[in-house]
This record gives sequence, structure tokens and C-alpha cells, in this order.
Amino acid sequence: MKIIFSKCTPIIVTLISVLTLSCTKYQIPDQRVTAPEFDPISVSTCDPDTVYFQNAILPLVVSSCATTGCHDKTSHRDGIILSDYASIISTGEIKPGDPNDSEFFESLTDDGDDLMPPPPYSPLDSDQIQMIRQWIAQGAKNNACSDGCDTTAVSFAGQIWPMMESYCTGCHSASAPGGGVVIADYDDMVALAENGSLMGSIRWESGYAKMPTNQQLSECNISLLQKWINDGFPDN
Ligand code: HEC
Repeated sequence: MKIIFSKCTPIIVTLISVLTLSCTKYQIPDQRVTAPEFDPISVSTCDPDTVYFQNAILPLVVSSCATTGCHDKTSHRDGIILSDYASIISTGEIKPGDPNDSEFFESLTDDGDDLMPPPPYSPLDSDQIQMIRQWIAQGAKNNACSDGCDTTAVSFAGQIWPMMESYCTGCHSASAPGGGVVIADYDDMVALAENGSLMGSIRWESGYAKMPTNQQLSECNISLLQKWINDGFPDN
């Protein structure tokens, strides 16, 4: 009996930890969801479990939905503008705290004609969909955070490409490239960096189209791109 017990102890301990962990991870969402604030609520430290609208959701929605001919201010397809927080919320298609009852969220995974973005645009990938789900579940707030700016070591995989995926690739995919400019991989980035249009467009210099179209990148992101270019486009 004693032997069986001691043999079982590690299994029991593992089971208890797994159960405790999964319970913490899959907590029932906080029901006390308050009405959205229109002014951004900004915090100085980014909580890894929180999805921030200004940092993650807005850039993604702008580059995937607020494109020319779709839901930018000028085109407002079906009367829907998705270029800033107030217009996104006032569509009435987001129910703070309840992604499953939010048409905005449903349209991202629709298997019929309502799928957004529609072809030839690529649908959002599962991480992006999950991020939007979490933001709505957390109350669809107009929140923002900043973690300081560390430009000491810039890497393509660590900072540059994730930045492009948040702010640019939705409008510059190979299937629907804005202005014919494709940003699909490292080589595309190097070509744009070398011909000057990357920094010209993100610094909103005259002679270049202003990129992204709705709001300039943060100073931190602009410095990261400049550092990546100065370092000779490291590809790691
Ligand atoms: C909402 C869609 C949209 C987003 C987001 C967007 N672009 Fe663009 N981009 C366009 C369109 C459309 C054009 C063509 C504009 C024109 O010629 O006036 C363009 C043009 C460009 C050009 C050519 C500029 C020139 O004047 O030669 C570059 C470079 C570029 N984009 C890079 C980027 C980068 C980098 C990002 C992300 C930081 C980005 N774009 C985000 C739609 C977008």
C-alpha cells in the first residue's frame, strides 16, 4: 500500500497542478463590463494578459478592414467606417464583453458571403482572430500601453516583421497589394528600405504616400526601423 501510494504521489501532484492551472487559465470572463470610454486609457506597463486596442487591435483593423474601397472614411462600404475607435464602436456590431454576440467578431470566421475581409483579401489568421475575441471579452476598451523603447538590439523576427504584420501587411499582401506594393517577406522589406520609400512613407515625408494611412507609427517603431536599416537589415 505504502509503495503504491508513493508511486502515485507524483501523478496526483501533477493532476492537481494541471487542474489548478487550467482552472486559472479558463476562468469565467469578468461579467462586470463597463461601457467603453472613448478617450484612450493609457498605462505605462503592458500587461501580457491584456489586449490593448491602440497597440494591437487598431493597426490590425485599419490594415485589414479600413482599406481603400472598403471601410476607410472615404469609401465607408455598407455605411461602415473602421478607421478609429469611435467609428468601430458606433457600428453597434461589437458587444463589449461578449464576442459571441458581436457581429464584428462573427464576420471574421463566417463560412459564407459574410466573411470579412472578403476575397481576394486574406482572412485573418487564428492568432489575430483570437486576439480580437480576447479584446472584446475584456470589454472592448480604448486602451493603450507603452513599455518604453529598447532599440539596443533590433531583430527582423523579433520586432520588424511583427510590426509589419500589425500595421502594414493587411494592405500590402501579394493577393491585394495597396498601390502595387507587396510586403510579404524579408526581401520585400529590404527592397523598400533600399529604395528609400520605406522610411520616406513612414516618416510621412513629402513626395511619398503617408504610411500607415490613418496614424503615424510611434517614434519608437520608427526608430526601430531606422536602426534595422542602419544595422544593414539583419535577417535574424
Ligand atoms: C489602409 C491600407 C494601408 C496600410 C495600413 C498601409 N499601406 Fe502602404 N500603401 C497603401 C496604398 C493604397 C498605397 C498606394 C498609395 C499611393 O500611391 O498614393 C501604399 C503605398 C505604400 C508605399 C509606396 C509609397 C510611395 O510613395 O512610393 C510604401 C513604401 C508603403 N505603402 C509601405 C507601407 C508600410 C511600411 C506600411 C505599414 C507601416 C503601410 N504601407 C501600411 C495602403 C496601405
